Amino acid sequence: MCGIVGYVGPNSTIDVLLGGLKRLEYRGYDSAGIAVLTDGGELGTRKRAGKLGILAEDLTAAPLNDGHTGIGHTRWATHGGPTDGNAHPHLGDGGKLALIHNGIIENFAELKQELLDRGETFSSETDTEVAALLVGEVFRETGDLTQALRRVVARLEGAFTLLVMHQDRPGVVVGARRNSPLVIGLGEGENFLGSDVAAFVEHTKRAMEIGQDQIVTITPDGVEVTDFAGNEVPTREFEVAWDASAAEKGGWPSFMKKEISEEPEAVAKTLLGRVHDGRVTLPELAAIGELLDGVDRIVVIACGTAAYAGMLGKYALEAWARVPVDVELSHEFRYRDPVLSPTTLVVSVSQSGETMDTLMAVKYAKERGARTLSICNTQGSTIPRESDAVLYIHAGPEVAVASTKAFVAQVTALYLLGLDIAQRRGTMDADAVAAQVEELQNIPAKLDQVLESTATRIAEFAPWLGDTQSVLFLGRHVGYPVALEGALKLKEIAYIHAEGFAAGELKHGPIALIEPGQLVIVLVPSPRHDDSLHPKVVSNIQEIRARGARVIAIAEVGDVAVVPYADEVIRIPFAAPLFEPILGVVPLHIFAMELASAKGLDVDQPRNLAKSVTVE
Ligand code: G6P
Repeated sequence: MCGIVGYVGPNSTIDVLLGGLKRLEYRGYDSAGIAVLTDGGELGTRKRAGKLGILAEDLTAAPLNDGHTGIGHTRWATHGGPTDGNAHPHLGDGGKLALIHNGIIENFAELKQELLDRGETFSSETDTEVAALLVGEVFRETGDLTQALRRVVARLEGAFTLLVMHQDRPGVVVGARRNSPLVIGLGEGENFLGSDVAAFVEHTKRAMEIGQDQIVTITPDGVEVTDFAGNEVPTREFEVAWDASAAEKGGWPSFMKKEISEEPEAVAKTLLGRVHDGRVTLPELAAIGELLDGVDRIVVIACGTAAYAGMLGKYALEAWARVPVDVELSHEFRYRDPVLSPTTLVVSVSQSGETMDTLMAVKYAKERGARTLSICNTQGSTIPRESDAVLYIHAGPEVAVASTKAFVAQVTALYLLGLDIAQRRGTMDADAVAAQVEELQNIPAKLDQVLESTATRIAEFAPWLGDTQSVLFLGRHVGYPVALEGALKLKEIAYIHAEGFAAGELKHGPIALIEPGQLVIVLVPSPRHDDSLHPKVVSNIQEIRARGARVIAIAEVGDVAVVPYADEVIRIPFAAPLFEPILGVVPLHIFAMELASAKGLDVDQPRNLAKSVTVE
């Protein structure tokens, strides 16, 4: 939540800041603002409520003098509504200092009172302004911006990334972080700071991590990182694994549409280099290898779509590795005194690697003696840093707020983990592992078929459902998490009431919701699976049809049994039971996107949401 960018260097600071904010806008779009130290030595700021485009138009209509030092911010409002006045940057030291913030300063009320007692005045309702005023006071005293920020962060409670610049310190931006993201971009004669690498990847792919409770000072020629006490700390440089063009729309009408089209590639990239000769090889897990050999319990923690990926992981991990798996929402997990031991593996799943609830749950698990593995998409993010090992999904940047390609890649990574543990523990023989590996390797091509055969059809009928008030999703076994994911997508981007249910639970309550015309989307398992689920789901469809429901079935090519009972059948290719949900989820992603588009909504930036939720 909230995107942050900082720049010092010879290029147009306004262009660098606006370009960076554009790539960070997924983090929040309640307001945007920049501060630039002009070549004339004046601190200019401009900030506007609403999306970044409004600020950009404003800057075109009334240009701000450019310079070579600046900071920019895109906001997801916490304290104070989304107004021009509450937009960042906030000023201190009589307007000579500008500061931006991501996070929440929990003791701001007390600090505000202290500042008011000293005669300071406030021009916003934000918690951030206290930090701007406090840093300004210390800077007046010491003339040292890094030291001023260091003194102030020692007084702040909560989570924050802060960037600060001062009119009297051209070519300097200072940042501090505690439990909120910040990454350094290393250029030639220029340096960058950003909430994630997307902020500067079009200028440099060389990046550097900053740990918790650290302060960074950038100048055009140098980067200095210290801890909050002022001691120098070791740093780690890394190369961003994707190009700036990967985070561009590239001719697609929306990032969501582009990212859905990348679902096959996302799975392929997660598999790349990890499957050879029917075996899974995950060298990244070496640090927890010993634990994996004897692990007796796995707890998956995640939020939103990542949690549904975790639920699918449970089916595969238990079936293959024979280890009991619990899947928990991160924010519930850490507040209920869970039982953990040194033989428990806690697996966090997070696309961004920054979700505060998940980060805190990882830290909690570590404190309680569990080992931690992060399944993550974003290099340089916090959760992998805090974990004992990381399995990157390599899905490429996901920009649309609603997660799509990361979901299929997360499921793939969890399946790889399941097969890896099965190999270690000998719970599957080599042929059985090889068969599952082959299924996984076939998924990208099957996903291509799903996209090809369903996208146009769904785009045709979805607009007819634009006035639908409520949609129910049903699935059994691995179809159940997919039903939950389908419902979440519809809520998130089409603002339609939707619920996902386990089809077997229907008769225990949800069937009371069925009245004539109720739209129900059903994930139908293949009749060719060696289980008895297909006829059970077909019976469930008959039960709801008898009560007047309109039914869309997601069913295997050639499954004729569903035809008499469905108003619409979306066909997917055959896959073994555990792999079917990776195919079945794609039509639901397309459905939500098409319905939202038909309603004229912005599918990439749905109201009230942010992609990276860095507050609890
Ligand atoms: C937010 C997003 C969801 C996402 C969830 C978890 O709620 O809107 O799309 O699934 O966060 O995000 P993560 O980055 O941890 O996967």
